[in-house]
Amino acid sequence: MSTSEVQTEANAATDLPTVRIEPAGVEVVCPPGEPVMRAVQRIELRWPTVCNGTASCGACYVRITQSTTPPEEPDERERKGLKLMPEFMRADGLRLACRLVPKGPMVVVRVNAAVPPTHK
Ligand code: FES
Repeated sequence: MSTSEVQTEANAATDLPTVRIEPAGVEVVCPPGEPVMRAVQRIELRWPTVCNGTASCGACYVRITQSTTPPEEPDERERKGLKLMPEFMRADGLRLACRLVPKGPMVVVRVNAAVPPTHK
């Protein structure tokens, strides 16, 4: 699979969706109900955050660039967090990684990629 393609099937070993985070190229498997940021943290990578996933700091914005199955809709907290971004940036798949729960394979790009996921 090339780096520009989204994995079109669930992770073969686990039957769970795989999310690739760009520009780092990190891939994580997300169990049901687990947001992308938590999946990254579970595999011992650090995802920059101030609010630790309460959807209030804006450090985790991502844009969904490829997806075979729409993720869960933003909950109330995420909708409030997304409103912190200028309106022109909210279109085209902007989400908070701390609240984004995938239901299928996807590729996301960090909006503020100045600080990529790194080892703890
Ligand atoms: S980690 Fe703070 S808004 Fe997502």
